[in-house]
Formats: sequence, structure tokens, C-alpha cells
Amino acid sequence: MSTENPFVALKEEMDKLVVGHEEVKIALLLGVIAREHIYVEGPPGTAKTMLAEIISGAAQLKFFFYQLHRDTRLSELLGDLVISKELTETGEVIKQRVVKGGILTAEICLLDDISRAPGESLNVLLRILNERKFFDDSIPLLTAIATSNPTADEYYNEPLDPANLDRFVLQISSQGLSYGKKWDEAKEVIRLYTERPAEYQVPPRVSKEVFDEYYQKLGSVAIPEEVQEALANFVATLIEDYGCDESNSMISDRTFFVKSLKIMRSHALLHGREVCTLEDLNALKYMTAFRIPEEVFLQLDQIIEDLTTKKKKTGTGGTS
Ligand SMILES: Nc1ncnc2c1ncn2[C@@H]1O[C@H](COP(=O)(O)OP(=O)(O)OP(=O)(O)O)[C@@H](O)[C@H]1O
Ligand SMILES: [Mg+2]
Repeated sequence: MSTENPFVALKEEMDKLVVGHEEVKIALLLGVIAREHIYVEGPPGTAKTMLAEIISGAAQLKFFFYQLHRDTRLSELLGDLVISKELTETGEVIKQRVVKGGILTAEICLLDDISRAPGESLNVLLRILNERKFFDDSIPLLTAIATSNPTADEYYNEPLDPANLDRFVLQISSQGLSYGKKWDEAKEVIRLYTERPAEYQVPPRVSKEVFDEYYQKLGSVAIPEEVQEALANFVATLIEDYGCDESNSMISDRTFFVKSLKIMRSHALLHGREVCTLEDLNALKYMTAFRIPEEVFLQLDQIIEDLTTKKKKTGTGGTS
């Protein structure tokens, strides 16, 4: 990563307080640069909330934090519900309106434990995140970061269905240091907490103007033809060689042929480039954790490596 890059400051803040979890950190950075939503799933106590809080705190954006629970009501997410009575010629009319707050006025939000929300609130929430609108009004939200425990029975939550999960362009699975057998990193956490108190204050590091400047730049990051071709080959390889299909995957055209360009461009900017290279195909791994079967995801580094060393799948002449 280039040292001139303002987003390096956000990474520094995360590195100061959280050991390891490199992929979660990069996914968060790509999400805030691209203004796409991020879903982080992992077991309890693996610093998911902490990382989301750090990046939200270090970015000088209007922040909304909400811990979802089984009784979450829509008004807690959208602002206050005001009910008024009016006397008209035809009688009494009861009106209901929302004084906007929560996700309707925030620029960045943390939706902690999203899979605990009841269906009714969750559906409206996800629709607003997707459309970035509340009725006809646009909302200022740049990025929502949602966290969840793995949706297995023992965590008492419901999995988001694949179509809902697809609203989160960035998707990342975080793993604990202990079960991941990352003993050096574990020792570093122990050292960190031996030396300093647990409270943390994150200084503001990146202003809204910088976010705007980079978002402007994002659109003009060039994507050369060989990178476009490699992206098409990536999707073709997953489907033709690795058995991804509608029954086991969520490879939507929107995500892989449109949103992926933003993520690859953000990856280039994060590395101080204004032109994408084949190297930026690596950004696709921050999008695929829950979109393809786990056994394919585990081979992704190799799949990307093969593609960047030019093994053709699509292009003139069809598949090879
Ligand atoms: N890799 C790490 N580096 C530094 N601190 C860590 C790390 N992992 C866990 N911690 C500590 O553990 C605490 C728990 O993290 P946090 O509450 O963010 O977990 P979580 O993944 O959101 O858990 P839950 O799923 O229960 O909400 C952190 O506040 C931090 O003190
Ligand atoms: Mg948490």
C-alpha cells in the first residue's frame, strides 16, 4: 500500500488495536472506498464489532451504531415515529410520520448482529440499504457494515437468505486466532493487553472531503482489456470448472460484472494505482466468501493465480 494514500491511516488505526484479521481490514477499506455495503461473519469475540467501530470512528463521517436483537423495531433504525391527530370536515384523521434518524441520516453505519433482527424490520432495512432511498428521498449513507455470528443453530440466529446477502457486495468470513492456530498473533494480543488498558479512543483520520475526492477518482481508474477479460474468465472458471451453479452459488451478473469493477478499482486506489492490473483480481476474494461453496472458496487464491498467469476460458473462439 502506498504511504501517500489517506486510507492507509484507517488501516493504521485498525492495526494499532486489532492484531491480525488482515482480510477483514482490507474488506472494510475496499467497502468504504467503493461505498458498498460490507458483511462480516465470524464466531463471537473475534473483533468484528471492534474493527467496524474503529474504521467508522476514524472516518469523519456521521455514524450510526445499532445492535440488532430479536425485538428490533423499525423505528429504532429509522428515527422516531410521530403520530398526530387532525380534525377535518370529514372527521378525525390520524397521521403517522417519521422524524428521520438512524440509517436515514447516517453516512456510515454499523448494524451489529444483523441476523438477529426479526424478518419484518430486516426486510425494510435491507430494502433501504439496497435502494439507498426512503420513499422518494435519497439517503446520505455511504456504507453499512453488518456483522453476524455464523448462522448455525448454536448461535440462535437465522441466516440471511442469499438474495438479501447479495445486497452486501463485500462479504468476509473472520476466524478466531485460536482455532486458526495463529499463535504468534495470539501472543501479540496478550502483549497488547498487558501493556495498555482495554478502553480505546479512535482519533478522526479521514475527512468526508477525502472520501468524496477518492470516490470521484474511482470512476476514472482505467480497467485495461486484459483485466476485463480475466474478470470474465474468473466467473466462467467458477461455473465451468468448479461446479458453481444456481443451486450452490449466488453469482449475480450485477455483483460480478458491475459491482466487481468498483471493488477492483478501489483495490487499485488502495495500492496507489490509477490503473487496474491483474493483481486487482485479488479483490474478488473479498466478495465471494458466502457466494460460492466453501470448498471452492478455499481454492480461490489458486484460481486467481492461474488466471493472472493467463489461462483462457472465454474470449474469441469460446471456451478452451
Ligand atoms: N485479534 C485481536 N486483536 C486485539 N483484540 C482482540 C482481538 N480479538 C479479540 N480481541 C478483543 O476481544 C474483544 C471482543 O471483540 P468484539 O466484541 O469486537 O468481537 P465480536 O467478533 O464482535 O464478537 P460477537 O460476535 O460476540 O459480537 C475486542 O474488544 C478486543 O478487546
Ligand atoms: Mg460483535
